Amino acid sequence: MKRKLIWRKAPHTEAKHKILDYYLKAWIPKLGTWNERILIIDGFAGPGEYADCKPGSPVVILDIVTNHVLRNRIGKIGVFLIEGNNDRANHLEDLLIRRYSPLRAGESIYELNEGKTVFAVIKGKFSATLEEMLDITQTHGVSLPPCFAFIDPFGPSGIPMELISGLMKCTKAEILINFPVDSVNRFLGTPAYENTLDALYGCKNWRKLRMMKGVERRRRLRELYISQLKANAGAEYTLHFTMRNARNRELYYLIFATKHWHGLDIMKQAMWKIAPDGSFQFSDYTHSPEQPWLFPLEPDWEELAGLIWKHFRGQEAVPPGEIERWTVIETIYASNHVRRALTLLEEKGKLCKYEAAYSGRGWIKLAPYKKKGAFPNGKVVVDFSAD
Ligand SMILES: C[S@@+](CC[C@H](N)C(=O)[O-])C[C@H]1O[C@@H](n2cnc3c(N)ncnc32)[C@H](O)[C@@H]1O
Repeated sequence: MKRKLIWRKAPHTEAKHKILDYYLKAWIPKLGTWNERILIIDGFAGPGEYADCKPGSPVVILDIVTNHVLRNRIGKIGVFLIEGNNDRANHLEDLLIRRYSPLRAGESIYELNEGKTVFAVIKGKFSATLEEMLDITQTHGVSLPPCFAFIDPFGPSGIPMELISGLMKCTKAEILINFPVDSVNRFLGTPAYENTLDALYGCKNWRKLRMMKGVERRRRLRELYISQLKANAGAEYTLHFTMRNARNRELYYLIFATKHWHGLDIMKQAMWKIAPDGSFQFSDYTHSPEQPWLFPLEPDWEELAGLIWKHFRGQEAVPPGEIERWTVIETIYASNHVRRALTLLEEKGKLCKYEAAYSGRGWIKLAPYKKKGAFPNGKVVVDFSAD
């Protein structure tokens, strides 16, 4: 299907942008306060808007970067917007010039926030642009600043595993990829797509999945991709979110990869906001336009409390930060769910807590800490040995 210059924004695209928005609002200050520069790459930027002037990903990103409440405390932020279609790239550049004027302009490089935000519309292919960037860093022996890359193609072409690995290896990079499972699944038996799928996966093992069918095949296509990200790109932690169309069919997985559990935590919190039942999926089919983003659902606090208790049972002095880290890495929950689960355990008498001091060899319990429902990190430890 040949796409127009701009097209209608589906609810799942809105959901994708909300995930991007929630994530960047937390990621930018987390990295930007400690690093002189950070970089955001929108690898398949699009025209910048949808029908009815709804914002595209470059506008979502630049609005967050330029208006962030902590912008003054954050260093330089570079935003590279790569778009392979010339008409869309020109549309994007014109739109951004109009939206963010007055701008200080170089050659297709624009400055905002008194030079602290620099963005560029790069008219070219994602893979060629990234390859050039990685070559430059290698030739000059420099590394890229900590980076977040949003990689949002229409289909499986143009996102070779080799380059994504190169990006993740060369810097503290976190990536959010639209893995187009619907088209990968469709093209699995098409000889003309073999090279594309070899490049996408960075291996030939996907061929073994041809004999599988249905849900299991899609799951295995995703799992193979994730295992390749871990093996080739050194992604320690990954997370995926399923997007479904108006017929409730799986369209794509948003796959997030990072080397740090803090990044995983931020993305988990963002995804939980869009799927507050913990299903990590969004469907245009069940989405209600009358109540677009009202979610009465919430996490299963009892389940999380049970998981925490089972894991830490018997331990006498656990810092709340360690419980958060474990929760983020080992369960579907995020760090912002932990306090409520611990409060449940406290109410049931399954834990007590103490003021604590760090001795160099570990935490020492001091006096009981009486304030109910509070677990300040660095100040208290939790004792799971009472029950
Ligand atoms: C799914 S759309 C991007 C939507 C956009 N990220 C958003 O959320 O608003 C994919 C875009 O990638 C562009 N594109 C296709 N192949 C490309 C390539 N190899 N490199 C960069 N952009 C490409 C298309 O022209 C299209 O505008």
